Amino acid sequence: MDYTYEYFQKSADYVKKIVPWTPDVAIVLGSCLGPFADTIEDPIVIDYKDIPNFLVSTVKSHAGKLIFGTVAGKRVVCMSGRFHSYEGYDFEQLVIPVRLFKLLGVKATILTNAAGAINPSYRPGDVMIVSDHIKFTGASPLRGHNVEEFGPRFFDVSRMYTPELRKLAWDCAADSGLNVHEGVYFFFTGPQFETPAEIRAARLLGGDAAGMSTVTEALTAAHCGMPLLCLSVMTNMAAGVLDQPITSEEVDDVGKMIAGRFSAYIAKIVSRLGEVIA
Ligand code: HPA
Repeated sequence: MDYTYEYFQKSADYVKKIVPWTPDVAIVLGSCLGPFADTIEDPIVIDYKDIPNFLVSTVKSHAGKLIFGTVAGKRVVCMSGRFHSYEGYDFEQLVIPVRLFKLLGVKATILTNAAGAINPSYRPGDVMIVSDHIKFTGASPLRGHNVEEFGPRFFDVSRMYTPELRKLAWDCAADSGLNVHEGVYFFFTGPQFETPAEIRAARLLGGDAAGMSTVTEALTAAHCGMPLLCLSVMTNMAAGVLDQPITSEEVDDVGKMIAGRFSAYIAKIVSRLGEVIA
């Protein structure tokens, strides 16, 4: 389907009628990182299913709500539950959330996700500031008719993970109680975890973590010139790094284990965003 600017405006118009103020930052919560939503003060909650031209979450650990409110004195909009291609969505549909953020006037987007550690020096529970990604699936969320109001047909992605925001994430890491790295996110479509051979190949090619989300939202943000920070939580060692199968229970358990520290880390970054974003 070829989307028009008006298609996205319809979602934004609905949300603006409910929320009379402009959020400073949008935060997308990855699998098992939902508890951050509980830290939002004075929340206004909108169900995805009520928003015209939006999508609905089909994953159990994803709530399916847009939550507006305050975190660390900043106005935020938080997506509790995101959309993935493995749910059956086309890549082209996955532009919808970030385009809504853009139309709402947010100044930056923070994407979070759960990922498998490819880099053998990483451990479950560690956090990776994404410096770049590798996506070898042919599809792009920007395929098809280009909506010029958001950005040009051809666009640069060499600085899409905003260097100033990565530096801020490093500055906030010091007393977070988290083990923080910076590295390359290798995108796989899922929903199956990867084969050990795929992970060995990803490692040779420069990947540090493997995941099934984020790049579509990140590319959409890059297209519309939105400053972007992306943080991956290592919930497990990627396939074949250890001689044991990956289970979604371990992914959930590690996510829950670090949820408190990770929420505090995001809040600290949000509180200092003004140092980087005008
Ligand atoms: N691979 C892909 N996605 C993931 C993983 C993984 O090992 N762990 C959590 N999300």
